Amino acid sequence: MFESVALAPPDPILGITEAFNRDQRTTKINLSVGVYKDASGQTPVLPSVKEAEQRLLAAEKTKGYKPIDGDPVYGRAVRELLFGKDSPLVAAGGRAATCHTPGGTGGLRLAADFLATKAGARRIWMSDPTWENHHAIFRAAGFEVEKYGYYSAASHGLDFPALKQSLDQVNAGDVVLLHACCHNPTGVDPTPAQWREIADLLSAKRALPLVDFAYQGFGVGLEEDAESVRILEQNFEELLVCSSFSKNFGLYNERTGALTIKATTPEACAASLSQLKICARVNYSNPPAHGGAIVSAILTDPALRKQWESEVQDMRARIQSMRDAFVSGLAEAGTQQDFSFISRQKGMFSFSGLSKEQVERLKTEFGVYIVGSGRLNVAGMTESNMAALCKAVVSVL
Ligand SMILES: Cc1ncc(COP(=O)(O)O)c(C=O)c1O
Repeated sequence: MFESVALAPPDPILGITEAFNRDQRTTKINLSVGVYKDASGQTPVLPSVKEAEQRLLAAEKTKGYKPIDGDPVYGRAVRELLFGKDSPLVAAGGRAATCHTPGGTGGLRLAADFLATKAGARRIWMSDPTWENHHAIFRAAGFEVEKYGYYSAASHGLDFPALKQSLDQVNAGDVVLLHACCHNPTGVDPTPAQWREIADLLSAKRALPLVDFAYQGFGVGLEEDAESVRILEQNFEELLVCSSFSKNFGLYNERTGALTIKATTPEACAASLSQLKICARVNYSNPPAHGGAIVSAILTDPALRKQWESEVQDMRARIQSMRDAFVSGLAEAGTQQDFSFISRQKGMFSFSGLSKEQVERLKTEFGVYIVGSGRLNVAGMTESNMAALCKAVVSVL
């Protein structure tokens, strides 16, 4: 049977790291995969996470299975992070439920399976461009994928008229995927006023928002970044939010995420949760425990939480300082082009505007690895690789 299986191409992003690892040059720089690195180029375990792990190790009594939807304490902590501690939706309970999922990707796939097989959804709209895996995940679940306008290459900002024009084509019952903040790959987010307009437009169309929230705290702040989710929540009787704790807790390999649903009534919420559990059961059965336990331990302990909030702030500040250093480094390396838009983008990525050919030259001539779309992981830049990076980029402009 396997002789007829065709060789698949490498993953568009993770495949770049495979090529990077094969590269023998000591000066090589990997700015492809979306992983935070500190000033020394390492992806650290956050001190708050280490402390939580020590406590968990001492207190752990069993490796027994978790409930299919995860621990209720975790679910509540996730909803508070999304909607705010004092949100009526969180306080009242009943109309919102959370499934602990293996990473944000697991949450997206669970949402896709649930929507396609239990809720009758057929079509999903995604920004053009979006994270490459969005297309693959929703196609795998049987969705028809449509694109909505998002990015203006000319202004390096949001093409809001194009976004509204495309979303005007949305039909009742269509799902619309939105990045809550730190849009991947562009780093360009709508303003709160634009979010309100998006909410008005989509609710008039009776569309269902599905929010992907993978970078809470990496944009402006933990609360500020959730404003989009809160605006949508206040405008929609039903919505879905996928959370990832890979970046803001640095829990990449612990596969820690969540899918939160808001339904019109407690009965509809309970029924939806029961069906989400069926979808999870036939996929991964129940969630991996460790990452979720870490997140719960940190979010429910005031001192640990304070420490984690300050660690998130430090990561955000380092990324912003690398953005500013990159912009001034490019100017010092001799470019006349205005790259100041890079300082204004949010999150880990910068959409540089480099062409496929320039990306290829960066790799072959300089050992600088970035994604074909021209997306650079700013969080991979350090003071020590900055000068070489800027020189290489200016050489291919
Ligand atoms: C926009 C977006 N959504 C979801 C994810 C998935 O994250 P996780 O590693 O938690 O599955 C990522 C990760 O890069 C992402 O960039």
